[in-house]
Amino acid sequence: MAGLIPQNFIDDLISRSDIVEVINARVPLKRKGKEFTACCPFHNEKTPSFTVSESKQFFYCFGCHAKGNVIGFLMDYEHLSYVDAIESLAADAHLDVPHEDNGQGNKNREDKQPLYDILKQAAELFQEELKTSQRAIDYLKQRGLSGEIAKQFKIGYAPDGWDFLISRLGKSKDHMLALSKTGLIVTKENNKTYDRFRDRIIFPITDQRGRIIGFGGRILDQGEPKYLNSPENAVFHKGFELYGLYETKMALRKIERIIVVEGYMDVVALAQSGINYAVASLGTATTTEQIQKTFRTTHEIIFCYDGDNAGKKAAWRALENTLSVIRDGMIAKFLFLPEKEDPDTMVRKEGKEAFEQRIKNATALSEFLFEHLKQECDISSKEGQAQLASKANKLIQKMHNSLFKDLLIEELSNIVGLSQQHLESKISSSEEKNIPPPKKIKPVRGQQILINKTRIAIALLIQNPALATQHKVPDNFKQAFKKGLSLLYTLQKTIESNSEISSAALLERFRGSEHENALHTLSMLQTPETENTDNILDVYKDIIERLSIEDRYEFLTSKLEAGKKLTEDEMEEYKNLLQSGLG
Ligand code: GTP
Ligand code: MN
Repeated sequence: MAGLIPQNFIDDLISRSDIVEVINARVPLKRKGKEFTACCPFHNEKTPSFTVSESKQFFYCFGCHAKGNVIGFLMDYEHLSYVDAIESLAADAHLDVPHEDNGQGNKNREDKQPLYDILKQAAELFQEELKTSQRAIDYLKQRGLSGEIAKQFKIGYAPDGWDFLISRLGKSKDHMLALSKTGLIVTKENNKTYDRFRDRIIFPITDQRGRIIGFGGRILDQGEPKYLNSPENAVFHKGFELYGLYETKMALRKIERIIVVEGYMDVVALAQSGINYAVASLGTATTTEQIQKTFRTTHEIIFCYDGDNAGKKAAWRALENTLSVIRDGMIAKFLFLPEKEDPDTMVRKEGKEAFEQRIKNATALSEFLFEHLKQECDISSKEGQAQLASKANKLIQKMHNSLFKDLLIEELSNIVGLSQQHLESKISSSEEKNIPPPKKIKPVRGQQILINKTRIAIALLIQNPALATQHKVPDNFKQAFKKGLSLLYTLQKTIESNSEISSAALLERFRGSEHENALHTLSMLQTPETENTDNILDVYKDIIERLSIEDRYEFLTSKLEAGKKLTEDEMEEYKNLLQSGLG
């Protein structure tokens, strides 16, 4: 197991990221006064009650009471584990997640680095080798590629022979291990090794951060297999990566759309023609993870497949997988090419403009969906209509609640002549399973929670952590009699451990604790005290002082009520408290 992620790193990561940006990339937000709103992604609604506060870096839904900071959002929205949410946020910020040594060492990370290193070195050697192989250069030229594009995609050439990599990199034990783990060399029964890629054009595959994680290798002449890919290993997971995504991100600042194609050469040929927003799944059907990843980069995906049967099948798989991830604001379209053509041959034949025209005219997801189903079912009969409705229901059930889903149901209702209500009741019966149940907390607006001084003090502190450095909570709050004061003390100490901590990061420290829910609620609490930003420190000081007095008073009263005797000092104190008007 990897070691713990240092708390300071998490604090820093939360402070660096902007929850508005992170959410907006997934759920388009509209500015409304000081906050941002959208229809809630966690429950079905038609008017927006999902609110994101830029200043507080929290989100909150007034409808279903979902709430949290940027990490909580990623966990809920993308169904990520805590660590994965941090990894995802860190990747966006181009940061490596550090792990504290927990005795078992940073095994995972240490295991991976040599693999990245060896893959990078191999890619460089293949690139060098391309320059010296006229045959490989001629092949790429004949396929219409310029040296510039080859360089951009780090295309290389693995020479013929058995031990190219070992002869260049050396046979040290570490090298051999890394080469073998990445599948760059293969071990035979007699313990002899040989290069996996021989006499092939090499397409390096990069991850989101530009690290090389594997290769695809194409044969130059006729032969089998036409393409050879790196095997799955600790750093290369085919179903999660997309060839060309990193290059697209590097080439474009704002990515309006991404076209998903089938082959390496398609991506490269499209880039050669100026269409530098193509990615390819790696020889498998496009997975939900790949679609999710792409939608994180852009709002529009065009799936491009051959017009033949295999292409239609692949497109249908992509449609099924898209339905389970698509949300309002995201667009998916399908582009079918004439038979015997792929994006590479097509774009070389007709050029950028004509190809982009095809992209513009691509088939909408809804149209592909219903056209496909109509071909499968004969809707001139009632039986066929019922069959179509049932098939469509199965697909629509997988969707998140959205306007788009409503529209599909409406269209289905038009096709099969059943009322929308009837269809919706059938579809939503299994819907509950998909949506996390609304979290039960009391709404904070409209005074529906009991507001007392302790709660206001906690709200002030969590919303303005810097207060802790300006005015300390008394140490005796640690074992205070009054409920809630010890939490105030804990907050004070937490902020002292990192005086720069942001509100959202502070909340993060209480994930999973008994106070998590209460703190989240109070982080959104709006009272005259929290909204008055002019003399917040004075207000805070005043409340702390009064809480301190109240605590003593309640303590002494309870002692008396329990029939215990007060000491002389305590009696004196009690009298003073009574005189000050507290009783
Ligand atoms: P070119 O013939 O170079 O234009 O290749 P292409 O990209 O048009 O290839 P094709 O449409 O035949 O295949 C699309 C993708 O499927 C390739 O980019 C590979 O990822 C994968 N693929 C194709 N052939 C093979 C093969 O023989 N083995 C494996 N493992 N993958 C293949
Ligand atoms: Mn091709």
